[in-house]
Amino acid sequence: MAKDDDAAGDVPDRQGRRGARGRQRSGWLRRPQGWIHYLAVAASHRGTGLGTELVRRAESMLAALGCPKVQLQVRPENTSVIEFYERLGYATYQAVSMGKRLESDEIDL
Ligand SMILES: CC(C)(COP(=O)(O)OP(=O)(O)OC[C@H]1O[C@@H](n2cnc3c(N)ncnc32)[C@H](O)[C@@H]1OP(=O)(O)O)[C@@H](O)C(=O)NCCC(=O)NCCS
Repeated sequence: MAKDDDAAGDVPDRQGRRGARGRQRSGWLRRPQGWIHYLAVAASHRGTGLGTELVRRAESMLAALGCPKVQLQVRPENTSVIEFYERLGYATYQAVSMGKRLESDEIDL
């Protein structure tokens, strides 16, 4: 679980204004954004409600920290997990994820 305090910085509105609407928009954007990363339950304990409980607890903790929204990423081929999150009220939205590896993921043995 993560809270990103600088998710958007001092962002103006779409017209570049930092007036009332811009302040309102940037104020909302400055609220911490909540993320769930790498949720997993041991294979021997899956299907017993633990995953649901972990998500609900993370949501409560992030809400208490002032996060207006929880986000997470799932690989598109992981359809059963997407269904798991949909049952918990999560909806998909289109975005392009980008990353750059700064070190090799090969393991020297
Ligand atoms: C996703 C995960 C955390 C769910 O944990 P869990 O403890 O099994 O979840 P729950 O027991 O609360 O399951 C809730 C419901 O979703 C279903 N479900 C959960 N994971 C599922 C899966 N991988 N495939 C099919 N159904 C799944 C359960 O059958 C249950 O359905 P029901 O309410 O109709 O009985 C677990 O499957 C897991 O660790 N998967 C591997 C790691 C992973 O892919 N994590 C997601 C990365 S973002």
